[in-house]
Amino acid sequence: MTDTPTLDLNAVAPAVDSLDTIVSLSKRRGFIFPSSEIYGGINAVWDYGPLGVELKNNVKRAWWRAMVQERTDIVGLDAGILMHPQVWVTSGHVGSFSDPLVECATCHRRYRLDELSGAEDLSATDLRDPGIVERLGLVCPNDGGPLSPPRRFNLMFTSHMGPVEDDGSVVYFRPETAQGSYVNFKNVQQSSRKKVPFGIAQIGKSFRNEISPGNFVFRMREFEQMEMQYFVRPGEAAAVAFEDWLPARKAWYERYGVAPDRLRFREHASDELAHYARKAIDIEYRFPFGWKELEGIHNRGDFDLGSHAKASGENLEYFDPTTDEHFIPWVVETAAGADRAAFTFLIDAYREEEVRGEKRVVLALNPELAPYKVAVLPLLKKRAEIVALCHRLRDDLARDVMAVYDDTAAIGKLYRRQDEIGTPWCVTVDVDSLEDGAVTVRDRDTMTQERVPVEGVKRLVLDRLSTARG
Ligand code: GAP
Repeated sequence: MTDTPTLDLNAVAPAVDSLDTIVSLSKRRGFIFPSSEIYGGINAVWDYGPLGVELKNNVKRAWWRAMVQERTDIVGLDAGILMHPQVWVTSGHVGSFSDPLVECATCHRRYRLDELSGAEDLSATDLRDPGIVERLGLVCPNDGGPLSPPRRFNLMFTSHMGPVEDDGSVVYFRPETAQGSYVNFKNVQQSSRKKVPFGIAQIGKSFRNEISPGNFVFRMREFEQMEMQYFVRPGEAAAVAFEDWLPARKAWYERYGVAPDRLRFREHASDELAHYARKAIDIEYRFPFGWKELEGIHNRGDFDLGSHAKASGENLEYFDPTTDEHFIPWVVETAAGADRAAFTFLIDAYREEEVRGEKRVVLALNPELAPYKVAVLPLLKKRAEIVALCHRLRDDLARDVMAVYDDTAAIGKLYRRQDEIGTPWCVTVDVDSLEDGAVTVRDRDTMTQERVPVEGVKRLVLDRLSTARG
């Protein structure tokens, strides 16, 4: 089920040439801001503004809809960020969750080895080779100074729980949500009475002390994951489930508008596999900075439940009444990032067009993901009856969807502003509306306009949203 990777990086063009286009739109229109900006910012943490929080919430809702609401075999969970520290020892994160770090002997800057020019395609074995820096003649990109041999740098953030800061009080900020699902396997299975195969879905914050974060919200130190752990019978059933989840997860991105040719699968080489994985395939997206991981699908075997059963002494076997067997279920995981998915939808929706000699910027977001579904606009803001009708309509729409009122510019400019933030429908109230009780509904993508009775607007919007959802 693996697509042949495209060898030429530029064979598939990105949706936008420069990341700066998205960064500046995000700042200007209130999608994403640098964290703590008035203090100069903090590296690799970003804040979602009024539009960004709507977009990201909609992405999370769309994921939950596909993974929990529409299925009968997956249930939700919201585990704590802080967990018993032994969880992270057992999971292998304390011992193995690390990246290869090199340090410049003169300026002391630190780099992730595989992010350095000339080292991007090294195998996992090469990245552990103490002689690799010398062999490739790598030097510090900042001052040309000599670089140290690679050493492993653990990515987990730590803190202390309680008033005493000693070794016994160390806690870890979770680097993945998955472990919360494993340690709750029995609680969830017994309370929901689900039979294997079944899944546990979670959305929540994770933290990684990344050596070289960057590319805007692509790699952050605080981010949100949307992960699902699917518990299956050992062996062949896990291999089959793994193959089934690959197209299902790719289809989710396409369902919400990502161009299929900007998505591909990439299988991890055996020396690249995470410590828990038997097999791993990434869904990659053609970002402006290259093909990069969007989501990982992993066959984790019995590593997780097996390790936790052994370390905790708790019996985590499942009893299958149909075959009279006890076994430790294997796990097939779909691991996506909420920020990375929202970022991808934002990039892929960006269009620049020329309309009547002028540039029009449109975010062609699937309506389900758009921050605002409807903007209600008065053609004449001086007419109190028109403004009053606009507010009545907006208030009524807002009971079901995000709807905004705007009268701060002329109608053409108001349309352009809504196009740029992806609002699928604008409703204009004019003088005739006061007579005939009808308003004009304008479509973002086609710019066509239709006259609709005021009382029919909500039905129209809800029907079109339902169609867009697929
Ligand atoms: N439980 C398995 C796991 O965490 P992963 O491939 O390390 O797998 C899953 O992470 C997804 O989480 C990635 O595909 C990405 O979308 C997101 N992610 C991981 N690290 C991230 C970071 N530093 N910033 C933003 N998103 C990140």
